[in-house]
Amino acid sequence: MLIVLISGAPGCGKGTQSTLIVEKYNINHLSTGELLRKEVANKTEIGQLVDSYISKGQLVPDDLIIKILSNHLDTLSADKTNGIILDGFPRTLAQAEALEEMMSQRECKTDILLDISVPEEELVKRLLKRGEISGRTDDNLDTIKERLEVYHTKTEPINTYYKDLGKYTKIDGMGTVEQTFERIITEIDQLVG
Ligand code: AP5
Ligand code: MG
Repeated sequence: MLIVLISGAPGCGKGTQSTLIVEKYNINHLSTGELLRKEVANKTEIGQLVDSYISKGQLVPDDLIIKILSNHLDTLSADKTNGIILDGFPRTLAQAEALEEMMSQRECKTDILLDISVPEEELVKRLLKRGEISGRTDDNLDTIKERLEVYHTKTEPINTYYKDLGKYTKIDGMGTVEQTFERIITEIDQLVG
């Protein structure tokens, strides 16, 4: 089972690239951001809890997201999937440690962390453009700035964690969607042989 982690700053293209990876390698996509936005839209108990974190650009608490992720992993494993792409998880060191623990409990392992790298100016440009149509409560300049700050302080440290595990791969996320996808395929093909 192929387990790909896709990381990088807000707007780097995690969701866009995940869709293409899912098609090519026939694996499942699990985006914690999408998951949480569905909970908010459906006004569930979880949705009510996480709504203000998301619209402020802050991370939802580790214990909550770890529990949600763990439940979804169980559902996917029961489906006998070829693999999973985790989009936007882990996002803190605590989440990374919890994920590796979940994997070993399930006799699985994460294969690779793809860190899509895009300069800040371009990230802001992409997100503001999407904000014109997305309806996402976090696609406005103030919240985008907070999301970027949170990314640098809380999420970037996971890069070192995965470097130490020998699983970190930086991907240049500039250029067209297709160009970035080509760079990703080169890395994943080395894993699936
Ligand atoms: P999440 O939904 O994960 O949002 P994010 O990390 O801020 O990233 P985005 O989804 O905005 O961007 P993306 O990298 O997917 O890029 P995309 O492909 O869309 O998380 C949202 C919130 O949920 C968090 O802030 C937090 O509150 C909560 N949350 C989620 N996970 C959590 C966790 N693990 N722990 C705690 N809290 C959590 O592309 C962006 C735009 O650019 C699109 O319009 C796209 O069309 C365009 N684009 C893509 N590629 C290119 C390209 N090459 N050239 C030009 N445009 C491009
Ligand atoms: Mg996304």
